[in-house]
Amino acid sequence: MTAWDALAARRAGVPVFAAGHVWLAGAGPGDPGLLTLDALAGLAQADVVVHDALVDARVLALAGPQARLEFAGKRGGKPSATQADISERLIALARSGRRVLRLKGGDPFVFGRGGEEAMTLAEAGVPYRIIPGVTAGLGALAAAAIPATLRGVNRAVIFAAGHGADEDFDWAPLVRAGQPIVLYMVMHNLERIAAALLSAGLAAQTPAAAIASATTPQQRVLVTTLERLAADAREQNLEPPAIVVIGEIVAMRSRLLGAAAPAEKGTP
Ligand SMILES: C[S@@+](CC[C@H](N)C(=O)[O-])C[C@H]1O[C@@H](n2cnc3c(N)ncnc32)[C@H](O)[C@@H]1O
Repeated sequence: MTAWDALAARRAGVPVFAAGHVWLAGAGPGDPGLLTLDALAGLAQADVVVHDALVDARVLALAGPQARLEFAGKRGGKPSATQADISERLIALARSGRRVLRLKGGDPFVFGRGGEEAMTLAEAGVPYRIIPGVTAGLGALAAAAIPATLRGVNRAVIFAAGHGADEDFDWAPLVRAGQPIVLYMVMHNLERIAAALLSAGLAAQTPAAAIASATTPQQRVLVTTLERLAADAREQNLEPPAIVVIGEIVAMRSRLLGAAAPAEKGTP
């Protein structure tokens, strides 16, 4: 019996993708090894995969031969589909009887607008389910050997978006919490946000890291201090997508790295 068969037996079958349903699934940060089995079942059965720019090509390659891939994200300067356009498209595809896999990078409910899409589907009466994914904040930290929590170091982790409509966001309460801050979508605002964190009282020498293209062959890790973060990222041409993490957990990396084994690929 294969592991897939054993799993199906324990769950009374593989989840069946019904015609006219939408599965709103997370694809993880990049490495297809981080897909959930339910996302994989969705890829195998979907008629249409509506995906964002950050869904890794290696994940899309796992779609079944019957599946049509539809891009619904931002791409190099071209006007991107609005959220309303995407939701309408999902509803139209489902109503035409397709099995629609809406695939998003990371987790669909973490800075991914999955909540809005689910609300629209619910309002339209389109049956849907949510399949969580490994969010980039956690995937990138693990890939860089930075523990998200460590006993005696921190007892909370703050996930925050570094880009949004509220440019005057007050960072001071987050700094006062004294817990590590994991930032998404921050590369274009790094200088401004690092300055805001410093002026809110975070020490200049606080360890900081930026992990770009985490879990992909292009992954790059920069380890520095809050004070140097923006300048170092610029000097090293660190490009989005990247996760930035600021806090003492970053300093634990050197202690974890000793025997950390690279993920060797092959037949076990
Ligand atoms: C629109 S948000 C989507 C987040 C996604 N829903 C999640 O849970 O990871 C996009 C941001 O996620 C982060 N991100 C996504 N994939 C990444 C990767 N492979 N490496 C580093 N950061 C990544 C970056 O901060 C990027 O700007």
